[in-house]
Amino acid sequence: LDDPRLRGRRIIVSAGGTKERLDPVRYLTNDSSGKMGTAIANAAAGAGAEVTLVTTRQLPVVPGVTVKQVESAQSMADTIDAEFTEADAVIMAAAVADYRLPTVSDHKLKKTDATSGLTLNLVQNPDILASLGRKKTHQILIGFAAETNDLLKNAQLKLTKKNADMIVANHVDATHGFNTDTNAVTLLRPEQAPVTLPEMPKPKVAAALIEQLATMLAKQKG
Ligand code: C5P
Repeated sequence: LDDPRLRGRRIIVSAGGTKERLDPVRYLTNDSSGKMGTAIANAAAGAGAEVTLVTTRQLPVVPGVTVKQVESAQSMADTIDAEFTEADAVIMAAAVADYRLPTVSDHKLKKTDATSGLTLNLVQNPDILASLGRKKTHQILIGFAAETNDLLKNAQLKLTKKNADMIVANHVDATHGFNTDTNAVTLLRPEQAPVTLPEMPKPKVAAALIEQLATMLAKQKG
C-alpha cells in the first residue's frame, strides 16, 4: 500500500460536523459522522503520508495519523491554520456549520415561561476552505460538496469560488452521504472532465481519492 508519491507528504484532513455551542450543555450540529474524513486520513497514512486529522469525532485511526480533537468551526479553523504553511494538501471533509451564536452563554440557559418562543440570532462562521484558497501557495486543496439538488452545478461553483483543486461532489439522501457507510461521488477538477465513481464503501472511496491526490502531488511545484 506504500506509495512513494505520498511518503513524507504532510496532509491535513478535517472530519465530522462542527458543534456550535449555545451554553455548557447545548449545541447546534449536523448529521456528519466523520466516517468519510477519517477513512481518508487512514488511507493517506496507510500510503505513507504524515497525516493530521482535525476532527469532531472519535473514530479509530491507523499509525501515521495524528488526531487533533476540535469542537467548533472556529477551533477547526485555528487548528488547520496553525499547520497550513507546512502542509502539502488539505482535504476538507468536515461538515462545517455555516452559523454560530455570537457569544456562548457560560451558564445553562433557562426556560422563561411556557408560552413565549426563543429566537436565536446567528452569525456566519469563517469559510475555512475558501480562506485557505485565498492564501494557498503550493498546497493542494480538496473540498466536499454535499447537496440534495443541482449537485454538479453547485459543486462546480464551489470549485471556482473557493479556489479548490478538487471538489468531491456527493449526493445527500437516506442512503448516501451523511452518517452512512457507502458513498457515491463525482470528482470535479478545473478544466477536466468530471469523474464519477461507482457507489462504494467509504474506505474504498477514500483510497480512490488518495490515489488521485498522489497523482496531483507528483505534479505539484514547491
Ligand atoms: O459551501 P459548502 O459548505 O457547501 O462547501 C463545502 C466545503 O467547504 C466542504 O469541503 C467544507 O468542509 C468546506 N467548508 C469550510 N468552512 C465552512 C463551510 C464549508 O471549510 N464554513
